Amino acid sequence: MTERTRVAIVGAGPAGLLLSHLLAEAGIASIVIDSRTREQIEKTIRAGILEQGTVEVLTESGASDRVLTVGRRHDGIHLGFDGELHHIDFAELIGRGVWLYPQHEVLIDLIAARLADGQDLRFGVTAQRVEDADSDRPRVIATDAEGAELVIEAEVVVGADGSRSVVRQAVVGSHGGYFREYPFAWFGILCEAPPSSDELIYSNSPDGFALISQRSPTVQRMYFQCDPDADPQAPSEEEIWEELQKRTPGTALNEGPIFQRDVLRFRSFVAYGMRRGRAVIVGDAAHTVPPTGAKGMNLAVADVVLLDRALRALLLERDERPFDAFAEQAMKRVWKAQQFSWWMTSMLHQQPGASDFDRMRQLGELRTVVDSTAGMSYLAEAYTGWPLPAR
Ligand code: PHB
Repeated sequence: MTERTRVAIVGAGPAGLLLSHLLAEAGIASIVIDSRTREQIEKTIRAGILEQGTVEVLTESGASDRVLTVGRRHDGIHLGFDGELHHIDFAELIGRGVWLYPQHEVLIDLIAARLADGQDLRFGVTAQRVEDADSDRPRVIATDAEGAELVIEAEVVVGADGSRSVVRQAVVGSHGGYFREYPFAWFGILCEAPPSSDELIYSNSPDGFALISQRSPTVQRMYFQCDPDADPQAPSEEEIWEELQKRTPGTALNEGPIFQRDVLRFRSFVAYGMRRGRAVIVGDAAHTVPPTGAKGMNLAVADVVLLDRALRALLLERDERPFDAFAEQAMKRVWKAQQFSWWMTSMLHQQPGASDFDRMRQLGELRTVVDSTAGMSYLAEAYTGWPLPAR
């Protein structure tokens, strides 16, 4: 079966859904497909920090107002090292903040908003490949849940299909991208307990990194640095709490039953390109960052805001210039976010094989940040998010 639409979007994650939402505002029709079920998408646990600009896009476009009622504004973070906490006060430094609102909640809101608007959104449909990216009628070849072939012919194909993107092949071929792996991972837990701190704690300790995050007044999310091959089921709850307590000196963590555990591997990746002809990739399909800077989903939203503008010019005014400039412009922010995520990661984790000199230098680096208004402001600007293009 062949369907026709203006924009074929592969992937119903934050990037794909938000793009369909913004395009619909301008009257541009799209079809969104995803290999997963709605339930899988709405239940997958991901990160939880939204930049101020991300929140503005979600609320101003009508995609989510629950972010303001269920989500919680945070005006800073605590950086812990050498046995002490240092408050980085974003509000005071730069007058901006972030929202703690889990990604799966954003997805619940976006799916509801798109379906209420009549969006053609198909779950259980798996993209196999993209054809004719260099023509002005590119196609997505997909398979539905019953195994039947579905061809979507469009004016533009967008791959918002995550780090294992199928669309990426049509954009960069087998060339891939810039890649970096890290010799550690995060052991993540969700537990039933009250918050242990007003703000998130990012802690560098001699035993390794820990992050004390939150989900709600009764559920908390915490992570500690572990081996990439660690088995999430191996440690007992006592051992997990001991690890977390040891790594957050000076803070008595509120403990409670742990009901979910996972190991998150770290990688930095940037595809060699984001566009070929009429095929584009955005979000994790084009780049991934380690989670320490909380940039992943925010970067996807920034790509989409830029691409929405470019597609409106292309499809409504036949102006190709913003579309031609899209990839180069998006990449500037991507590399800034790569730098920030790499920097936060490197500064806060214990590197296997680090010498005493390396460890002392790392503490010097952290002190350079917290002793300087300029240092703290850089962190605050990057964490709360650089300005998005005007919509
Ligand atoms: C989270 O709450 O899952 C979270 C928060 C901040 C990060 C990464 C993850 O930097």
